[in-house]
Amino acid sequence: MERAYLQWTPEMSTGKAAVDEQHRKLIEVINRLLARSTGPDGRNEAFSALKDLDEYVREHFAQEERHMLAVRFPGYAAHKAEHDEMRATVATLRASIRSAENVFGATVAILPRWLERHLMGADREFAAFLSSDA
Ligand SMILES: [Fe+2]
Ligand SMILES: [Fe+2]
Repeated sequence: MERAYLQWTPEMSTGKAAVDEQHRKLIEVINRLLARSTGPDGRNEAFSALKDLDEYVREHFAQEERHMLAVRFPGYAAHKAEHDEMRATVATLRASIRSAENVFGATVAILPRWLERHLMGADREFAAFLSSDA
């Protein structure tokens, strides 16, 4: 069993099952990337896990941003800025995976705390806006 670096908790719940499901998947992909990056065959294993994370992050963030725009969420710009930060981090990881191990290791280590903060902060804020609007 792979170690779970980040665990989903009820404090991350948005109250929307479909969104929570996507967030659990993000956590799973990050955990897999972290587990693979520290293994003996880290590079190859991490490579596919990083590709998955990149794809999943793009898809989930784009969907969330479309939703925020559609309902004219006033916190859109700040929320998108957090997504941009994560997209930049993933781009750094993709650029560094084959070269500087120190950069890769240090960058990969920030993923769990970043996601935890985002899920409990920005994503719950948007969820609260959606339910107050209903
Ligand atoms: Fe978000
Ligand atoms: Fe999200």
